[in-house]
Amino acid sequence: MDKNDSLHPINEVLSFFKKTFGDTENVRVFTAPGRVNLIGEHIDYCGGYVFPAALTLGTYVAIRRNETNDTVRIAATTIDGIRTFKLSDIDSAKTLDWGNYQAGVVKELLSLGLSLGGFDAVYHSTIPFGAGLSSSASIEVSTGLAVSTIFGSPLTGKELALAGQRAENRFCGVNCGIMDQFASSMGREDHAILLDCASITHKYVPLDLGDNVLVLANTCKRHALGASKYNERRQEVSVGLEEMNRIAKAHGAPKKPNLCAFTKAELKEYAPEIASDVIRKRVMHVVSENERVKEAVALLESGRLAEFGALLRDANQSIRYLYEATGEELDAIYDATLDFEGCIGSRMTGGGFGGCTVNIVKASAVEAFKAHVAERYTAATGNVPEFYVCKVGDGARECHLV
Ligand code: GLA
Repeated sequence: MDKNDSLHPINEVLSFFKKTFGDTENVRVFTAPGRVNLIGEHIDYCGGYVFPAALTLGTYVAIRRNETNDTVRIAATTIDGIRTFKLSDIDSAKTLDWGNYQAGVVKELLSLGLSLGGFDAVYHSTIPFGAGLSSSASIEVSTGLAVSTIFGSPLTGKELALAGQRAENRFCGVNCGIMDQFASSMGREDHAILLDCASITHKYVPLDLGDNVLVLANTCKRHALGASKYNERRQEVSVGLEEMNRIAKAHGAPKKPNLCAFTKAELKEYAPEIASDVIRKRVMHVVSENERVKEAVALLESGRLAEFGALLRDANQSIRYLYEATGEELDAIYDATLDFEGCIGSRMTGGGFGGCTVNIVKASAVEAFKAHVAERYTAATGNVPEFYVCKVGDGARECHLV
């Protein structure tokens, strides 16, 4: 990066810091990326495998301690004014119109025993908002890294992910799993992360897509996790786990800790006995998706890209028809890819109910792909989509100007 590039997000966040808080002496800048999930959707909270990758888009935080022991002042490049809360009364930040992801993380850092004081911070994001690309996780992880570092006790990547997830669960009321925060803190350039959410252990897998690139297609239908059916799905799968264990017991089999611990053979045997059709569909998605992730990673590792892409399509249909977490816009933008030859795989990515699909597209056909999908998607929904050719970047880190 070039420090003379005034449009660079680091410069942008620093110049806004100066405008807001007077100067940039002793200010440090941290960043944490958004993520795309390649496969393994809605199973991180069922003890499953997921396969996300960090983006090169992210949240940038310019931060320094202030002279107070207690007062946090935060601002953002796209929001007017400064929001303030006190370390001694963090819960009052729940009523802020903006800033509760940050406050939730600070609360988690305090409960981990970190000794914090007041600080000033400015946020700047290059992630399209509400697109299901984990802009909130990137705020949480960048805040965790920035605050723990300037107060002398930097958390590890895994600790950052867990603190961010707890903040979102406890402070913001979204019962999310660990995937987004983990990808944001632990991402690696040009690699996807195979994360076992039961043990929170991972391995990096090189993302070698041959002459293809990843294209995100944004429905531009805002995806709002809190307001969506996310928490409802979590509730349904917890009923699903109880049901599967009840049936397993009747078959003389031992109890399992989570839905992804059931095999496909057990699913086949037990599914007909699940009382509710809805719960049966949810369980079928979860168990089959977990198997698909393992298969997909093996295919990618052996360079069998066409089959990898086909599995992404199977995964999309599972989340669409069994988990019912897509909706008109995601379905239309997915369907628009079906007759495009240069697209070997496509699926919705993230929480769903709006947001983006991820597509594997021949690099030479990207412009044709955009035109093809946009025309059909707009005809079907009246919405105009956006496209981003995405690069896979590193996880959370401090930024240094060269
Ligand atoms: C959101 C949540 C994640 C995960 C996905 C669905 O992004 O934050 O924890 O559950 O939805 O896979």
